[in-house]
Amino acid sequence: MNKIISTHIKSKLILANLPNSVICRDLNIPKLGLGTIRYGRDWPKNKTDNKMLTQVETNTNLNTFLDAGVMMVDTAACYGISEEKLGNFFKEKTYRHYLNQVFIATKWGLVFNPSNNGSDVNHSIRNLHESFRISSDLLPRVDLFYTHKANAIVLCNTGIKNTLLKFQSAGKIKWIGASITKTDDFSEVFHKRKILSNYVQFIQTGPEVLDKYPDMIKTLHKEGIAIVINSPFSRNQSFKSGLESYKSILKNPNVSFVLMSSNKEKHIQENLDLASIH
Ligand SMILES: NC(=O)c1ccc[n+]([C@@H]2O[C@H](COP(=O)([O-])OP(=O)(O)OC[C@H]3O[C@@H](n4cnc5c(N)ncnc54)[C@H](OP(=O)(O)O)[C@@H]3O)[C@@H](O)[C@H]2O)c1
Repeated sequence: MNKIISTHIKSKLILANLPNSVICRDLNIPKLGLGTIRYGRDWPKNKTDNKMLTQVETNTNLNTFLDAGVMMVDTAACYGISEEKLGNFFKEKTYRHYLNQVFIATKWGLVFNPSNNGSDVNHSIRNLHESFRISSDLLPRVDLFYTHKANAIVLCNTGIKNTLLKFQSAGKIKWIGASITKTDDFSEVFHKRKILSNYVQFIQTGPEVLDKYPDMIKTLHKEGIAIVINSPFSRNQSFKSGLESYKSILKNPNVSFVLMSSNKEKHIQENLDLASIH
């Protein structure tokens, strides 16, 4: 599959548009990031062609994106066996060299439920420790650790905050993130954003938040939070097509990273091309 990537794309990906506070800490990577739910479970739920990739397909898919220069790889405890498949990939001699370039993000707070191919919220401190232990065992390292389905109450929880800060000061993680799904939760966190200071450096959310609250996104970026937008093709409100949504998010100066996924050669080529400098 790598043959499909024209050489001009290699190493020419647009760089992440980062707030100064994050740049100061030496992060210089492409804006395009890779989502990995489909490595670990059937996804997206509403699509018929949504079968989980095998380990061989995972390796090919991941190798294609990393070879093209993508560095941010996004997974989560609740993405089925995605973390395990990523761990297997990096253990292979052929792919080990990517460990120097890759930026691995994972999340805790949602637990995979195989009975309905969904996930259940568990924001207990016990689960925070357990989830981090499992992710650290499966993955070669954790660069960015998000609280999944975060909201103002969870982010204000002193036990959670102190545990994450301890992981960070012990060098177990580099960055702390909040992944906020609901628009109302995002708005509430924004209005109480003092809770984020000296604590959260990344916020991941969906295109619907970007559509609904562009000014809040702009303010957060200006105040030093790196904004990561997921699901550009599957979740958008005001755009007619996923492709238009993807293009617009890539162009948005207040968005630091865009996470997409694809297992079709035509789409991969198109997505890499649009995320490249011309
Ligand atoms: N934090 C959270 O709560 C959260 C929630 C959702 C997602 N995420 C993260 O974001 C990642 C991406 O999310 P996602 O997989 O839902 O979103 P996505 O990238 O928006 O959607 C992927 C779907 O779009 C199709 N696609 C990709 N490129 C296309 C193109 N150029 N034209 C037409 N269709 C195209 C893909 O199918 P083909 O294979 O056919 O190309 C795939 O089915 C996830 O893997 C995950 O890491 C996080």
